[in-house]
Amino acid sequence: MKIIKCTDYEDVSQKASELVIQQIKINPKSVLGLATGSTPIKLYDNLVKAYQRKEISFKNVLSYNLDEYIGINREHSQSYYQYMYKHLFSLVDMNKKNIHIPNNDEKQIDKITQLYNEDLNKHQIDLQILGIGSNGHIGFNEPGTPFENETFIVELDEQTRKDNKRFFKSLDEVPKYAITMGIKNIMRSKKIILMASGIEKANAIHKMINGTVTEDLPASILQRHPDVTIIIDQLAGSKL
Ligand code: PGA
Repeated sequence: MKIIKCTDYEDVSQKASELVIQQIKINPKSVLGLATGSTPIKLYDNLVKAYQRKEISFKNVLSYNLDEYIGINREHSQSYYQYMYKHLFSLVDMNKKNIHIPNNDEKQIDKITQLYNEDLNKHQIDLQILGIGSNGHIGFNEPGTPFENETFIVELDEQTRKDNKRFFKSLDEVPKYAITMGIKNIMRSKKIILMASGIEKANAIHKMINGTVTEDLPASILQRHPDVTIIIDQLAGSKL
């Protein structure tokens, strides 16, 4: 694991965006694995600016998102579909047919899960962006998820629902289920960048880097990946 210690959130976002920009420049047809949540917002902002400066183009980039809520539709303001269009896809020259966000249509969810996984198995991700939950989840692979899991439907951890309550009016409104890439999908990526900012991530970051590899702390599996860069600010790294 390569660890880049940054001063603050801006710095984390800057370092992460430099790596993503470099990836797209080296291979304009890169397959990117994308994350949502509050952590990558500024990273996407930086990528949009690089696109506006004509430094990079997304025309031939292929993207696969990590996860999506089940129980709210794609038009809901908190769906990851809306998030991705708001922060990145509607602001750059992404080709719509190259965008993959798990569809959350409940009537077809089993089929969708299977097809998303098949698609992922056909397109190896060149660079996967990850955040980390305060409980050590990556994607929505909650503590206790088997490392062998591929794309699946997950019941969200209470901690995750509480952490994400800030985006909804009440805890009741936070979806209880999601579709997520499994650990096995994530581990097949050629390169991984994990970003974390803030004191609430400090425990998870400490256990991910210094703890034993255990399904109780899903991010700990990254110790076994050959090309992982952890980008953290001072607070997230304060227990190292
Ligand atoms: P956050 O979420 O970026 O909103 O903190 C990260 C995650 O849960 O993976």
